[in-house]
Amino acid sequence: MSESKHVRVERIAGLLAITLARPEKKNAVSARMYQALAQALELANAEPSIHVVLLDADGDDFCAGNDIADFVALARSGQQIEHSEVFRFLRALAGLAKPLVAAVRGRAVGIGTTMLLHCDLVYIATSAILSTPFVDLGLVPEAASSLLLPARIGQVRAFAMFALGETIEGQAAVACGLANATLPADEVTPRARAAAITLADKPALALQATKKLMREQGRVLAAIESEGREFSVRLASAEAQAAFMAFIGRRGSPA
Ligand code: COA
Repeated sequence: MSESKHVRVERIAGLLAITLARPEKKNAVSARMYQALAQALELANAEPSIHVVLLDADGDDFCAGNDIADFVALARSGQQIEHSEVFRFLRALAGLAKPLVAAVRGRAVGIGTTMLLHCDLVYIATSAILSTPFVDLGLVPEAASSLLLPARIGQVRAFAMFALGETIEGQAAVACGLANATLPADEVTPRARAAAITLADKPALALQATKKLMREQGRVLAAIESEGREFSVRLASAEAQAAFMAFIGRRGSPA
């Protein structure tokens, strides 16, 4: 097992289990966490003995999205987001040849929801709440979600999630094809882990070939790049900065 800052990575036979481990911040993803996540996915891709990847999270909430303070720091640094650890993670996620299984409880915001579009099996708590409020944050969709979310749930429902900030809860997520099954929160991880172990015992090359046939990787990577160009512009905008400051200032904490 390895544990870098707020990400735990464990090998269990043919399975690589990656756990977001920052529950005190609702598993908001920092730049260092993106780096650790990208490294874990790159390892999974390169290592033939890893057949399946499981994505899970500590605590009651799956992921509160990108760390807002990191968004502020990234915008101030002037670095193009395409060259950031965020994008290294997104490319590794979209390029992952092995099946990815997710266990989702509680809130999944922004990247917490859009990363699920890259998962091959998703088990979700009945009480889970998915949201992608990019417009309210002065941002645009990322992780190829501008392509993948409308394709999965339909144009108008996806627009309502992006632009109105509408949420989708467990049962509705299953009904619209975002998840396989809803479960009580404490049964989500065991169910996802069991499914991942079952996959790990399947013929590995046939499994990867099946995933490859089902994913339009070239289009997805192209969408990530074009979203990234717009995202960089929005991130530095007055609209986004005002939204970040409103979140950071909720309790009078410093940026
Ligand atoms: N970035 C940085 N810190 C975050 C965070 C984020 N995206 N989301 C939550 N946190 C922190 C909070 O600042 C708080 O820290 P504190 O205890 O030091 O004050 C802690 O996590 C708990 O969050 P809190 O807001 O108190 O929990 P909640 O249960 O009331 O609400 C959320 C949970 C997820 C609804 C709420 O935290 C939220 O809206 N987060 C921002 C989501 C977001 O916009 N993400 C970016 C998407 S692109």
